[in-house]
Amino acid sequence: MIKSLIHSMAVCPDMNKVYPKIEYGKGVYIYDQSGKKYLDASSGSSAVSNIGHGRSEIADVIYQQVSKISVLPTHAFNSEVVENYLDRLVSFAPAGFSKAWTVMSGTEAVESAVKLALQFHQIRGDFSRYKIISRWNTYHGNSVFMLDVGGMKIRRELYSQWLNNFPHISPAYNYRKPAGLSEEEFVQNLLVEFETTIVEEGPESIAAFIAEPVIASAMGAVPPPANYFAGISRICKKYGILFITDEILTGFGRTGKNFGMDNFDVVPDIIASGKGMSGGYFPLSAVIASAYVAQAFIDTKTPFLGGYTFACNPVGCAVGNTVMDILERENIIANAQKMGNLFLKKLEVLKEFEIVGDVRGVGLLCGIELVQNQYTKEPFPVSVAISKKIGEKAIQKGVVLYPGRGSVDGVLGDHIQISPPLVINEGQLDEIVDVLKQCLKEVMSEIKKTTLSYENIES
Ligand SMILES: Cc1ncc(COP(=O)(O)O)c(C=O)c1O
Repeated sequence: MIKSLIHSMAVCPDMNKVYPKIEYGKGVYIYDQSGKKYLDASSGSSAVSNIGHGRSEIADVIYQQVSKISVLPTHAFNSEVVENYLDRLVSFAPAGFSKAWTVMSGTEAVESAVKLALQFHQIRGDFSRYKIISRWNTYHGNSVFMLDVGGMKIRRELYSQWLNNFPHISPAYNYRKPAGLSEEEFVQNLLVEFETTIVEEGPESIAAFIAEPVIASAMGAVPPPANYFAGISRICKKYGILFITDEILTGFGRTGKNFGMDNFDVVPDIIASGKGMSGGYFPLSAVIASAYVAQAFIDTKTPFLGGYTFACNPVGCAVGNTVMDILERENIIANAQKMGNLFLKKLEVLKEFEIVGDVRGVGLLCGIELVQNQYTKEPFPVSVAISKKIGEKAIQKGVVLYPGRGSVDGVLGDHIQISPPLVINEGQLDEIVDVLKQCLKEVMSEIKKTTLSYENIES
């Protein structure tokens, strides 16, 4: 007993909790040791298992690749499996991209993308550009460097002595735009804020701007307002700033397109991708560079200084290649778009619960925001932990959600991200909605009881 407790403490984040043990997964479901079935509407933590769980085809591919070769002396060699996969990644990206390489985690990919942007300016003789502009309430990875670039206050707090090197602007958060502003005026204000920040910081000091196309776990699936990214891209070009998209979560079909930014007809300079590109069958992520960026390295014969031991790993590439076969063969990205549109309509019904303030998303990256009052949009106090409570209730009822908080100001604001595997069908979407309805009903009656007991105490 003590041994198993120590083990569970070693692998899971809450050291006071004993987590149920998952035994296996199949499609959209995972099963614990007691045989209890859960619909994994989180897709791992989070939005990873785009192609669903338990694909033995990928186990076979891993076995075959490991039997041949599992690691290369990459300083001196390439291999067909790696080269073909990198070419395929480039073709999967929008037109104008020319180079790609893989690493292991999302954090490594985004950090490599940022370093690529920094080195790009340096090899062109532009040594003054070292700042990265990003947005508050967005997450770009968990290394200290990426926490600094990112804007997730809860995670940054612990490392404040090492941070605060970079400017941040407001996230494009349509649901909480200032009262009385049209969406167009709101976008205009956001773009003015971006350009003013550039001018105040000194355009010659800015290397890149980074953003998630749809703000995922940090805010619960917040899409940008119309024409926002087109304006951002225009301003980046005006000042020679590279535009990096963090597609770690939104890439590989999650939003119903190859990449999240494809929904907004904007092409960035560098893409970082991860999670769904391996479907969780291998730690795999990638940087994809536009020809504009890559050409500077080619012309100056400068290697990119971003090596990792497991970069361009052949097993990862074999897995990634098979995931792309499956995405194509089973038309999974089209399913994500179709099911995503349907899901948003079904989730809209949840607004009949007075604590559901917003329902939002793109493709199968969806979210709801919980409020005390639908009209004033007042968030719950942190102490109520409402999204966490709903997440726990849903697990008891057999659905895994991805609850979070901080959407309003980095601390306040409860949301729930719902990002099931992209192979989900309509009946399974209904299962999620039914469980959400039950959880919302229960939580609301518990809140009412607590309020009543406060009133009794006060009177
Ligand atoms: C948008 C975004 N960027 C970066 C990361 C970091 O990825 P990883 O946890 O694989 O390092 C994540 C992970 O959740 C993410 O959602």
